[in-house]
Amino acid sequence: MSKAITPIKGMPDIVPEQMPYWHHAEAIVRQVLEEYGYDELRTPMLEKTALFKRSIGDETDIVAKEMFTFESRSGISLSLRPEATASCVRAGISRGLLHNQRRRLYYYGPMFRYEQPQEGRYRQFYQFGAEAYGLAGPDVDAEMILMLARIWSRLQLSGLRLKINCLGSDATRERFTAALQEHFRQHEQQLDPDSQRRLDTNPLRILDSKASQMQALIDAAPQIQNYLGSGERAHFDGILQRLETAGIAYDVEPRLVRGLDYYTGMVFEWQTDQLGAQNAVCGGGRYDHLVRQLGGRDTPAVGWAMGMERLIALLALGNDTIATAVPGVYLVSVGDRAARAGLGLLEKVRDALPGVRMIAHGGAGSFKSQLRAADRSGARFAVIIGDDEVDAKTAGIKSLRGGTQTSVAWDDLVPALQKHIAAET
Ligand code: HAM
Repeated sequence: MSKAITPIKGMPDIVPEQMPYWHHAEAIVRQVLEEYGYDELRTPMLEKTALFKRSIGDETDIVAKEMFTFESRSGISLSLRPEATASCVRAGISRGLLHNQRRRLYYYGPMFRYEQPQEGRYRQFYQFGAEAYGLAGPDVDAEMILMLARIWSRLQLSGLRLKINCLGSDATRERFTAALQEHFRQHEQQLDPDSQRRLDTNPLRILDSKASQMQALIDAAPQIQNYLGSGERAHFDGILQRLETAGIAYDVEPRLVRGLDYYTGMVFEWQTDQLGAQNAVCGGGRYDHLVRQLGGRDTPAVGWAMGMERLIALLALGNDTIATAVPGVYLVSVGDRAARAGLGLLEKVRDALPGVRMIAHGGAGSFKSQLRAADRSGARFAVIIGDDEVDAKTAGIKSLRGGTQTSVAWDDLVPALQKHIAAET
């Protein structure tokens, strides 16, 4: 036997046993997004590297260290998308989706970041995301958060906590950044190597450092709240008031700066303490300059993305009821004549009962071994046919839970199965 090829590090397969959770979560997130008037946009997984450099920022970890980048045959630098906000804006501009109008968009698909893989952190992971264009807020900022709260409640998830902060305009951040630089420069020897580098390139990100020797220094750093102009303060307060009116609890978290450079105002994360170190399930914020920065017109924008692996991990905690799919029917057919008649019969049942899972045994085997396979398949009923049944044009229906068996004429098989299924659901 030749050596098996191993999977790529950090790129998980999602195996069939996990899929009921994925399908359940995907259906609910999509449903809520559609209910709020968001339209799906699908963009390619590959984009020009320049797009991510110009939007996420050269100095961010994502662009500096985490992109899967390679050269195309024609010599253009391409990257697998590490996130999709930049792609949305690129598509919005190049396809005329944002021209002079309000637009609510959502997307779903895999993203790629060359991070150190661990539980909840992968090199390929799925994100659902929503982006709203042309709406200056604060109503739409609050809408984004209300929409997420609705998703959590429909998924019956509790324990997610909203952390929110305001990063202010470019001018505000410039003043704040200068104050941060002054503060951290006074203690330069205490900074970890990443923070030393960021002191000149991106001082805001020092606030995000997890290095333990930095924590006291970060706590003592100036806070953005004290640098906000009155308009920014009013916008942020407007969001908080709307959340209060809607009964959404939040923590204002002055150290929340996020790992992407395009944010301009409110930023937020939904965090959990049930998943260990990878505590952010969803993050987003306002990015009012990105459309212009990428060659479009000035367009206010706000959005978020959620990590589906983390959401599924939360959903699966102490919840095994989602795994039960639609009741299934398993065809047990002993002998060649029965197998042939059974397949035809099953097609007729499929015509009449769309949505019900029907599995044909597919191959020879004794009655006993086929029944064992029926049990293992998770089906609730077996439809049983042998030579005698073919002659009499009947089939047995056996409940795989209760063990009772009845015999019905082929013509009555559909209503009989319908009755059984209705009784079990
Ligand atoms: P982000 O915070 O980089 O934001 O990612 C959003 C979410 O994706 C995170 O909260 C996390 O749940 C998940 N995630 C990120 N990296 C990984 C990973 N390596 N493995 C598993 N899950 C991960 C963005 O991507 C922005 N585009 C959000 C946004 C949209 N801002 C405005 N619009």
